[in-house]
Amino acid sequence: MASYDVIVIGSGPGGYVSAIRCAQLGLKTACVEGRDTLGGTCLNVGCIPSKALLHASHMLHEAEHNFATMGLKGKSPSVDWAQMQTYKDDTIGQNTKGIEFLFKKNKIDWLKGWGSIPEAGKVQVGDEVHEAKNIIIATGSEPASLPGVEVDEKVVVTSTGALSLGKVPKKMVVIGAGVIGLELGSVYSRLGAEVTVVEFLDVVTPGMDAEVQKTFQRMLKKQGLNFIMGAAVQKTEATKTKAKVHYTLRKDDSAHVIDADVVLVATGRKPYTDGLGLEAVGVEMSPRGQIKVGADWQTNVKGIYAIGDCIDGPMLAHKAEDEGMAAAEQAAGKHGHVNYGVIPGVIYTHPEVANVGATEQDLKEAGRDYKVGKFSFMGNGRAKANFAGDGFVKILADKDTDRILGAHIIGPAAGDLIHEICVAMEFGASAEDLAMTCHAHPTYSEAVREAALACGDGPIHS
Ligand code: FAD
Ligand code: NAI
Repeated sequence: MASYDVIVIGSGPGGYVSAIRCAQLGLKTACVEGRDTLGGTCLNVGCIPSKALLHASHMLHEAEHNFATMGLKGKSPSVDWAQMQTYKDDTIGQNTKGIEFLFKKNKIDWLKGWGSIPEAGKVQVGDEVHEAKNIIIATGSEPASLPGVEVDEKVVVTSTGALSLGKVPKKMVVIGAGVIGLELGSVYSRLGAEVTVVEFLDVVTPGMDAEVQKTFQRMLKKQGLNFIMGAAVQKTEATKTKAKVHYTLRKDDSAHVIDADVVLVATGRKPYTDGLGLEAVGVEMSPRGQIKVGADWQTNVKGIYAIGDCIDGPMLAHKAEDEGMAAAEQAAGKHGHVNYGVIPGVIYTHPEVANVGATEQDLKEAGRDYKVGKFSFMGNGRAKANFAGDGFVKILADKDTDRILGAHIIGPAAGDLIHEICVAMEFGASAEDLAMTCHAHPTYSEAVREAALACGDGPIHS
């Protein structure tokens, strides 16, 4: 039996970051991971592999659609799927090995196997029971299933199967127009599949700014994705090579069937806490299966903390990381903090979509007086040169104080641009503060400045 200051269970972005911060704070730390590699969902079957496939397929799109216009002539590249998978797997390997290196560097013990908590202050891995003054649960999430839909990870797949299909399907049906459905749907559409997205609601990406939702769906349609909106999937029927997706249209209850070679089920994820033994230890759970925590990420059982996808909040890697650092600091007797009002969200399609803070719908519901500063990428020289003029930056600011309340970007490098607004919001900046900051020309970031100017006396280039 070994004795630690902290044992973290799970090595995803929440867990590994938390373990590193614990070690940096001088705590003797171990991290339990049951997978063969560190890094959790994000590095193994989530953020990283999906971004590799998005990058590769975007390069193909550029070659097919924009190269000739720029005077780059010649045969378009063809898809070597096996090589694209190798590239993706190499990318995963480099990242997961990187975490192993960081664990060694910070003297964190990797306890290999599935962990459970036989009692407060103890963690069992295999036959070994270890002592821990503090336990941080970071066991993440898994795909949520849909009644009537049986996943085999070959024909009817979750995101995990979709990242490693045997070949590019001719016809793919995606259930759910959320983040996973649109990112992976884009990948396969660019690679030549006929992709149809079946969505329960009348809008894509629920919860996002309504104008962004409309523009985003229009752009994806233009890229070749088909949408069946307001459709509730009832069941799938699959053989070894094909599937049928049965759905009803909510407007008239009419029943329909659509054929597919592969069906991607992308209808959300749920917390994963199986086998931890939380009930016996008395850790309180929410009705949605999340571990309940207080403002210090501690559960109702002293010394047991929880972070990331297995607690409430957006299921995002960076949210898990921030909580991981904060919980580590709390366990070390410091004052870890997360500002939940400034957590950006990014969709890595082309163009990217990014948001932070309130939407207009939120502000209307809260009865807050606000103003909108909007600027189209059509007025941005760099975007026009790079065939990226479609899209806009929209900044929402308080009508009286001019304080920035939220921002919504659809367009080139949106996922990077959003962070200047995050920093501004962290400092309680006004739109005028952004507007008065010099932005280099020609950069996409000038569109952010112009949107900030649009909150005041007006943008220059529109
Ligand atoms: P996880 O990453 O899920 O890690 C939990 C780890 O705990 C796993 O490795 C699991 O094996 C281990 N574990 C569980 N139980 C035990 C146990 N009892 N003992 C030992 N180990 C255990 N988010 C973004 O911010 N950006 C993106 O671009 C993005 N893309 C995504 C793409 C896809 C296809 C998917 C599925 C998700 C994506 N996400 C993205 C979401 C992101 O992956 C998660 O929010 C993030 O991984 C959550 O981190 P976590 O540390 O809470 O849990
Ligand atoms: P999601 O919650 O984003 O979207 C699910 C969609 O499925 C919703 O639009 C919902 O209305 C629809 N749906 C639900 N039931 C349905 C039914 N019966 N028929 C048709 N449509 C139905 O979930 P998703 O895309 O699975 O992603 C899970 C999580 O992973 C997200 O919370 C996200 O935060 C995270 N993620 C983040 C990424 C990023 O940050 N870029 C990328 C991928 C995932």
